[in-house]
Amino acid sequence: MSIAPPNKLQAYRASVLHFHADPAFTPDAFSWHEDGLLIVDGDKVQAAGDYATLAATLPEGVAVHDYRGKLIMPGFIDTHLHFPQTDMIASPAPSLLPWLEKYTFPTERQFGDQQHAREVAEFFLDELLRCGTTTAMVYCTVHKESVDAFFEASEARNLRMVAGKILMDRHCPDFLCDTAEGGARESEDLIRKWHKRGRSLYAITPRFAPTSSEAQLALAGELAAAYPDTFIQTHVSENHAECAWVRELYPKSRSYLDVYDSHGLMRARSMFGHCIWLDDADFARMAETGAAAAICPTSNFFLGSGLFDFEKADAARVHLSLATDVGGGTSFSMLQTMNEAYKVARLKGSYLPAARMFYLATLGAARSMQLEDSIGSFAPGTEADFIVLDPACTPLLARRTERCANLDELLFVLALLGDDRAVSATYAAGRKVHERLPA
Ligand code: GUN
Ligand code: ZN
Repeated sequence: MSIAPPNKLQAYRASVLHFHADPAFTPDAFSWHEDGLLIVDGDKVQAAGDYATLAATLPEGVAVHDYRGKLIMPGFIDTHLHFPQTDMIASPAPSLLPWLEKYTFPTERQFGDQQHAREVAEFFLDELLRCGTTTAMVYCTVHKESVDAFFEASEARNLRMVAGKILMDRHCPDFLCDTAEGGARESEDLIRKWHKRGRSLYAITPRFAPTSSEAQLALAGELAAAYPDTFIQTHVSENHAECAWVRELYPKSRSYLDVYDSHGLMRARSMFGHCIWLDDADFARMAETGAAAAICPTSNFFLGSGLFDFEKADAARVHLSLATDVGGGTSFSMLQTMNEAYKVARLKGSYLPAARMFYLATLGAARSMQLEDSIGSFAPGTEADFIVLDPACTPLLARRTERCANLDELLFVLALLGDDRAVSATYAAGRKVHERLPA
């Protein structure tokens, strides 16, 4: 497979949407060009704007891809999911801890086999691209082979991906247990091998506090300090029984989040999955350190974990993003994830406007990861990862979107009714990596 981007200018005509700020806090947070043009130079965005203005600037002979009637926006960014859990998505259990024991650990056992890991990684990435997700923060398993398999597959598609080897040295089956020193050594080897190689980025990945000893968390914190532009990802405050367990294991910590804080694991580029049961002091600390929350609504509904509190998080001005948490989550689609996030907000008595949902799945996520100079918008010079959405992809969507009075309504309907079928095409670094075939 060639990953070379087209080396000449490409132009795409459609409605064009992208964000430059969070609509929750800034008026005029996005640019909307109803008859718009996106100009791509090789693998980078050159310009996005009105067709009438930009078309005149194109050198003669540049072909304009005609996507009129469709909507172009930056590719979605999913900030928390597990590629090895692809084959166990939708496995029922009463709650998180039994689900981990019964399905997750046995499934992850198979990823010591690099061939198996590669086959699942290929499917997983194709599924993300079918859903319009061009960047993700991905948990591999405890096996270093699973990380090699994942990055080899994402490198072959030239995708901007973040991933890491799970660290877990206790309270797990022997076949998934590493050691504090061994896990840190392997993580460092993987950082040296993969971090910033092409579009790959590494995340130091302690699974969650219950499965890491203090020694392991301390070594993870040391790695995070030694490699300050790597990412950190873990789970926090997802489920009541898990939180009670952490209180038992770490009685001296003020809170679950504080366990990570006291081991040097809170900083910019730390991504905390779930954040359901955090208190005001935790949210304040997240904002202070620049750490970010990955909100996982389909997973939290599925496992009965709880409802994310947007109001509390916004009051502290925490970096927020949306995530599928496959396979605890029940969909690879960020549109379906928006749908469920909207309902979480409603159940908590707050409201998530459509524009905010699309911001969180694009520029909001990029900012949470300190990657806004590379991805998440159509600012000139950013990487040309974008999607083409079809508001008429199903009979119901066609009928409903025809009746939309304004952009807000159109985006809302796309978020609530859309899924992989709404993604006509996905481009990564200027190259088409998915095209939906007519049904
Ligand atoms: N907490 C620790 N591991 C996991 C996992 O794999 N999925 C979810 N949802 N929560 C976790
Ligand atoms: Zn998870």
